Amino acid sequence: MSGELRKTPVEELLKPNAAVELEALAAEIARHDEAYHRNDAPLISDADYDRLRGRNDAIEARFPGLVRDDSPSKRVGASVASGFTKVTHSKPMLSLGNAFNEDDIHEFHGRIRRFLNLGDDETVEIVGEPKIDGVSVSARFERGRFVLGATRGDGTTGENITANIRTIPSVPLKLRGDDVPDLVEVRGEVYMPKDGFEQLNRRLAERGEKTFVNPRNAAAGSLRQKKSTVTARRPLEMCAYSVAVTDESLLPDTQWEGLKRVQSWGFRINPEMRKARGAEECLEAYSELMDKRDGLPYEIDGIVFKVNRLDQQKALGFVSRAPRWAIAQKFPAQEELTVIEDVEFQVGRTGAVTPVARLKPVFVGGVTVSNATLHNMDEIRRLGVHI
Ligand code: IVH
Repeated sequence: MSGELRKTPVEELLKPNAAVELEALAAEIARHDEAYHRNDAPLISDADYDRLRGRNDAIEARFPGLVRDDSPSKRVGASVASGFTKVTHSKPMLSLGNAFNEDDIHEFHGRIRRFLNLGDDETVEIVGEPKIDGVSVSARFERGRFVLGATRGDGTTGENITANIRTIPSVPLKLRGDDVPDLVEVRGEVYMPKDGFEQLNRRLAERGEKTFVNPRNAAAGSLRQKKSTVTARRPLEMCAYSVAVTDESLLPDTQWEGLKRVQSWGFRINPEMRKARGAEECLEAYSELMDKRDGLPYEIDGIVFKVNRLDQQKALGFVSRAPRWAIAQKFPAQEELTVIEDVEFQVGRTGAVTPVARLKPVFVGGVTVSNATLHNMDEIRRLGVHI
């Protein structure tokens, strides 16, 4: 059943079948979380994974009484892997709800307006930030000194990867300035830039070692090294997207100014971040970022919208594992998995033979793909593909 989407529309599901399906979904999603987070080797595409989770959420919304204790909706990512000690975050590291289309963005704004009792002519200020496709980490500073680096883990407890985080040049080991609170946790995304990823894979391939599927898995695998000397040789960077402190009066009162403060302490923040008011400006920011996507030196998979004012964020609060004051609008998937059903050998005018894979048709990047060139035998071996 792996990856296969259940056919019955959720509105037509009978309760006993819904229960059976939720059980199967819990097991299947857990298996994918494990493969993805712990082994850095996803078994299905992100789009299929999101669909499985979406189906799980939709069934649970229809049958709230059937929500399982081990439901994927109650967990964020994978549990802690062995080999690293556990760390409890000073504040939970939560996840984000997803917007898949424009309606979802309008709903996001509608919800905010209702919650904050805003009049028809009032808009909320939003910050739009690229959603970098990497690994979220938390870096703790005591009296300005870097003391602890952790993965998100299940959101409450992560893995202690201090020695590995320490090797990342864009993570300051000491925060600059005289306005640094005694205890600070800077959260952000650790990622591998596109060019560094290509170089790393080339290096690994030359040595006959396993290459990484994408920059995100390369970043995750690099952070999970037992030897920080290995991590140090990997081209990792960190971009800060939030800050947590014990005494909030020590920070500015907006997301925007908060990030500027973090930047003044020595962190990198994303230069593409921008402000927007209301749904329409958010949708504009989304399109503009999508146009820039291919030209950016790192991979992004969407945009994150956050209510700028922290007092408004506080009023909005959280629902289950995600804040009501933020949402991620994903870009359409550019990557899909499919099956090679056959390989044909095309003979060109010059007599050159090119193997071409006949694929189970798959919709990706706005088109249906049913053929793909395999170039030559070396490429087939490199990809390790077969019918
Ligand atoms: S904010 C409570 N901002 O997306 C909000 N997350 O799906 C927590 N991510 O775990 C997240 N860029 O790994 C936030 N500018 C950004 C982000 C970002 C990438 C990742 C992060 C997080 C995941 C949530």
